[in-house]
Amino acid sequence: GAASALAMVMFAGQALAADGCDSGEMVIKFSHVVAEKGHPKGEAAKKLAERVNSEMNGTACMEVFPNSTLFDDDKVMEALLLGDVQLAAPSLSKFEAYTLKYRLFDLPFLFASLKDVESFGSSDKGKELLKTMEDKGYTGMGYWLSGLKQFSAKKPLLQPSDANGLKFRIQTSDVADAMIEAIGGSAQKLAFKEVYGALQTGVVDGQENSWCNIYTQKFFEVQDGVTETNHQTLAYLLVTSTEWLNGLDDGVREQFVNIVNEETAAANADVANKEAACRQNILDAGGVIRELDATQRQAWVDTMKPVWEKFQGDIGTDLIDAAMAVGA
Ligand code: LMR
Repeated sequence: GAASALAMVMFAGQALAADGCDSGEMVIKFSHVVAEKGHPKGEAAKKLAERVNSEMNGTACMEVFPNSTLFDDDKVMEALLLGDVQLAAPSLSKFEAYTLKYRLFDLPFLFASLKDVESFGSSDKGKELLKTMEDKGYTGMGYWLSGLKQFSAKKPLLQPSDANGLKFRIQTSDVADAMIEAIGGSAQKLAFKEVYGALQTGVVDGQENSWCNIYTQKFFEVQDGVTETNHQTLAYLLVTSTEWLNGLDDGVREQFVNIVNEETAAANADVANKEAACRQNILDAGGVIRELDATQRQAWVDTMKPVWEKFQGDIGTDLIDAAMAVGA
């Protein structure tokens, strides 16, 4: 939080630590990889910091590092355990080194809408899953929605067979790998900040992501077009170190957790609007968006859904059934 006016006068700014937090305040660093503005995660992180910095002023101070300026998603997990950051929100596709349960969220065409993801997240099973990595030192504080995923490539994609022989950038997810294989493409795992360059230079031919990632990272500018496949959801785990969270004074932890819960709900309620705006922004900027008719869409479902089989053992049919029941 800002130093009080009095302190500013008395210490002529010297009471401010170099990082902008007051001395004596607990610093909460939040590192993420997306744009600061116009993106569900970027905006949610900013709002969370604003609330912490006003309501917990004097006790805690949150600093947000967007755009991979501090850590990539693979490094941020180590950084949490080392105490170099206290909060991160990697996509649920990026936890395979810690748990295979989150593969659930990657199953193509499992959740039909963001609302379904949210309902599942707030169900008993969803809440239980927040704690599934505690033996590794991580606690999930909530699920942050981002959007449904769309494919783009250097050529039009209308049928899954249009992807034959193309190379797609994927997140570090074996489910995504199997999905790309199913459509006859090859997959390359790359960090988010590498994607634009890889598309531009032809290291990869295509990618899959939410409307806001495709817009804010300008992927559409270096692709032939985006196909509205809505084939998967992109959602994040707001994750912290279990040791750090448990080490907070009870009152401080309670206040922080309450703010997190309120901001999580508020951000999730607005994600569909933000995604619709990003989709429109792509069109306004001259980007091409292709919609699928019912037959085309069914072909993508029929081609990609069989990958479930490969992963249902790791995930557990109880979880898959619970997730499916949400949309039923
Ligand atoms: C990606 O790597 O494509 C996404 O997980 C980035 C993000 O955080 O939305």
